[in-house]
Formats: sequence, structure tokens, C-alpha cells
Amino acid sequence: MVVAQGVPDVSVDDAPALISTTDAWKDLAAHKEEIDKTHLRDLIEDQKRCEALTVEYNGVYCDYARQRVTEETMTKLYELADEANLKGKINAMFSGEHINSTEDRAVLHVATRAPRNKVINVDGKNVVPDVWDVLDKIKDFTEKVRNGEWLGHTGKPLTSVVAIGIGGSFLGPLFVHTALRTCGEAAEGARGRQLRFLANVDPVDVARSLNGLDPETTLVVVVSKTFTTAETMLNARTVRQWIIASLGQEAVKKHMVAVSTNLKLVGEFGIDPDNAFAFWDWVGGRYSVCSAVGMLPLSLQYGFETMEKFLEGAWNIDEHFATAPFEENVPVTLGLLSVWNVSFLDCPARAILPYTQALAKLAPHIQQVAMESNGKGVSIDGQPLPYDTGEIDFGEPGTNGQHSFYQLIHQGRTIPCDFIGIIKSQQSVYLKGEIVSNHDELMCNFFAQADALAVGKTAVQLRSENCPDSLIPHKTFTGNRPSLSIMLPALNAYTTGQILAIYEHRVATQGFIWGLNSFDQWGVELGKVLASKVRATMNEKRTKGEKMSDKDGFNPSTTAMLNRYLEGKAQ
Ligand code: F6P
Repeated sequence: MVVAQGVPDVSVDDAPALISTTDAWKDLAAHKEEIDKTHLRDLIEDQKRCEALTVEYNGVYCDYARQRVTEETMTKLYELADEANLKGKINAMFSGEHINSTEDRAVLHVATRAPRNKVINVDGKNVVPDVWDVLDKIKDFTEKVRNGEWLGHTGKPLTSVVAIGIGGSFLGPLFVHTALRTCGEAAEGARGRQLRFLANVDPVDVARSLNGLDPETTLVVVVSKTFTTAETMLNARTVRQWIIASLGQEAVKKHMVAVSTNLKLVGEFGIDPDNAFAFWDWVGGRYSVCSAVGMLPLSLQYGFETMEKFLEGAWNIDEHFATAPFEENVPVTLGLLSVWNVSFLDCPARAILPYTQALAKLAPHIQQVAMESNGKGVSIDGQPLPYDTGEIDFGEPGTNGQHSFYQLIHQGRTIPCDFIGIIKSQQSVYLKGEIVSNHDELMCNFFAQADALAVGKTAVQLRSENCPDSLIPHKTFTGNRPSLSIMLPALNAYTTGQILAIYEHRVATQGFIWGLNSFDQWGVELGKVLASKVRATMNEKRTKGEKMSDKDGFNPSTTAMLNRYLEGKAQ
């Protein structure tokens, strides 16, 4: 085990003991020595173990026989979950307790997909009716835009949508849009429409997202929980200017709508509050795709009914997470395996490898969900954590990734992989005369990669294949590299909701076990504060036509770079 780097040296009186001090944790640490004596090459041949190490729920099949665990390890991990009071923490989340204690907020993204008849209280008030008021408003508005009842300023239908937002106000909706674009019934609902995203404040992103669009037929959705995020607000002003320049000030009310928790600032920006879609402080940005953040732009594109199925899929997993015994609980089991890999096997990263192009934006979304949630150095009580938490998430669809970074995963660093396969593809391509379809070919790789990582290839095997001695070290695969395989029957709105919720709750499980707060994100603040200091100074220097000096409060390195930038701009 490695001690987390750079954690503050603070003492917290009366804080509960860290999970690493418990017998369950110590037992796992000792058990790791046993696991180190095993190899996946042998473990994977054990029929009984293979049968035991699967978990399945409502079409989601998860095989974790290629994790470096035995049934005994799993028993110990479930004991760790009990020790960490995982059940109590899940219950506290679903019952609206302020478990995000550093921001004094409930954590109830699950309420954004709860059926109408559910009761979920926050501070004594059932919030489900509020959720459905907004969903009904989204349904009404998006149907009007889609059927041409709501027209642009010059009377034309609004067939293009640009959603402006960043981080959690962008990555989730982009992930879902990418998942549904080629999905039969969803794509049918999107016929004749386009949805684009503008996230980066980079003028290149502005140009690309507006390229070829006609303001007369474009609806802009400004998405920001706070409505203060510098990049989003600058992009919103830029695009508002783009509309006004072409159609006049009056056009804004027909062409710009907003999603935010801060309806006051929406009004001050000049967007009619009637055209604002609310959400609430108990929905974290990175957990907000099922709120109006995702539901508004995605319903504009695909229709509300399709997006309702997405909510149903997510809620299906929510209920499973809240009620299923841990041994049968998909997100809990996956979360415990990640804790095992990070904190006991010292694996610093996790690769998310969907074998479908439609999940190309899953890894970028989960990168924020997981890394912003569990990238913490202190416990929820502020105690420095003596064990590693969080992991570096990255990934690309297979087989593209195989031709890129898999080399390192096979013969370099040990990186647990999530392989995600779809049984029935969104598209079917059969070349005449070929028996194996494109999708079969893709899935052959899905099955093969997991075994290649687990089993590897020995020098003995290579010799038997007459491999020259000089190449044997290079062609040997150590194997024993963990992965898990998730299979879904198909990828549609419903299963996209399921996969989203599985990852969200897996991340929560990890955070609950590690005893940290997965729902704040103080670590992103410092950079924002420093950027505003740079912005203020840049403004002043530009206005006065001056150079930066050592009196401006920046270090010599930053001063030199800023001067270089300012001079470059002036030339
Ligand atoms: O900088 C990180 C962050 O605060 C995320 O947590 C959030 O999703 C993103 O910025 C965007 O924030 P907002 O929706 O308030 O514009």
C-alpha cells in the first residue's frame, strides 16, 4: 500500500476511525499475500470460481472471473462493506440526508429519475413533484419546438440546437447523445434535427460548433448549474451576440433558453425565466444528466418519450443499488473490486473499453464522475487518508484502443480494464459471402482481449512455436492482468440509463468505503481563482498598454510567459 501524496497535516478531534484501521481492512491486506501467489491463468480454469464470479441484473451481465480475486476475497470485500456501513450510507443518500457535508447538501440525483409516484424527501419536503413539474415543462416545450408550434423569431422551425455548458453540464449529455445517435428508434426521432455542444471557451470550439448553422433555425440552450462558470457565460454572451447580430435583440427570447439552479442569474442574463428549466442544489453537476441538464437538449433531439426510457433505465439500477444484497448488487460489487484494485493491489488507473463506437463518450464522462468524486486526499471528517483513493480513468472504444494504448496494458503497467460488449449491435453490416459480421468481428476482440490479459503467453509456449531466443523476452506476456466484462443485450435509451447509473453508484460505493466525500469538488477551485487573477491583470495591462513586472504578484516564470503572450498579441 502507498500513502497518498500531498495530503494536509491536520488533526481532527473525535473523528471516527478510518476504514484502514478496521480488522476487515487488515484482513484484506493480509489476504493480498495469498492472492499474490495465484495467477489468473490458473484461476480462470476453475469452473466453480467462474460460475461464482458473475453478477447479473435485468439484462446486465457482469463477469469478474478475470479479477485477481477468489470467492474468499469477495467474502472479505463484502465484510469490508459492512464494516464501512455501506448499507447505512446508501440509505442516507436515498433518504435525502445532507451527506455532502462540506457543502451541507443532500445528494439526490436518483430523485431526478424517480417515477412520479415515489416519495423522496429533502429537508421534510417530497421533491419528486418538483422533478416532474420540470419534466412536464420539458415535455411540453420540446414537443412544441419539434412539431413547429414554437418557431424562431422569423417564423422558421428551430431544427438545430446548440447546448452551451462545460464539465457536468456537458459531458453527460454528450455521452448520451453519442450513445443514441445510431440507435434505431431514437435516431428515427431525431430525423431532420441536429444537436451540437459548445463547451470550451476556445474560439476554435465556438467556430466549430456554430459552423454552418443559421441563427434563424437555431435554438441555444445555456446549461450551467451555477450560471457563473466563466467559460460558459462568455460562450453564452458570444452566441447571444451571434443571434442579435443576425436577428436583433428581440430574437433572444425565442432563440435562447436556459437550464440552471440559479434562475435569478438566468433572468439577469436576459433569458425569459419562463424559458428556464430548473434543477436543485441536491443534484451535483457531474450527476446531473438526468435532470433538465440532459433531458432538455436530448428531448429536443430525440423526443421526450425516448428520453423517459433513459430515466427508467437509470431508476431501474437505482432501485437495485438501494435494495439488492451486496453479493447480487452490480454497482456495489464493481465498486468493491475497484477498491481492491486501487487500495490493495496498488493499481493507479482503470481503463474503460466499450466495444461499441456508440459508447465513445462513456470514458470522458466517467472520468469526471469518478475523478472529481473520488480524487480526494482526506476523509469526510478532514483526516489525511493513509491509503490511495480514486483512480485515473481513461478509455477509448475497442478495437481502436487496441491499436493505440493496449500495448502498455498488455506488457507495461497493470491497469484493470472494464470491457463492455453489446450483444445486438445498433447497426448490422453483413458483407455478402462473409459469415462473421462486422459486429461479430468487434466482439471477437472483446472476448479475446480479456483472456490475453489474464492468461498471457509464456516462454515455454513461445519456444514450442520456434520463437527465436532473442525475441522470447519481447514476445512474453506475463498475464495476470485484471479485467471485468460487462455485457448488455442492446444499447438503447434504457440500457444507456442503466450503464450510467451503474458507474455513478460504483463511484459512490468506492467513496463510501474509502470514507471520503464523493460529492464535493474543492480541488477545482484554486485554478479558477488564479485564472481570474490573471484575467484581471491582463485586462489592466492591455488597457494601460503596459508590460507585466515583478510587482504584479506572479512568479518569474508566469510573468515571463504572460509577457510573451501579451507581446505576441500586440504584434
Ligand atoms: O469546474 C468543475 C465544475 O464545477 C463541475 O463540477 C461542474 O460540472 C462544472 O464546473 C460546470 O459548472 P456549472 O454547471 O455551474 O456551469
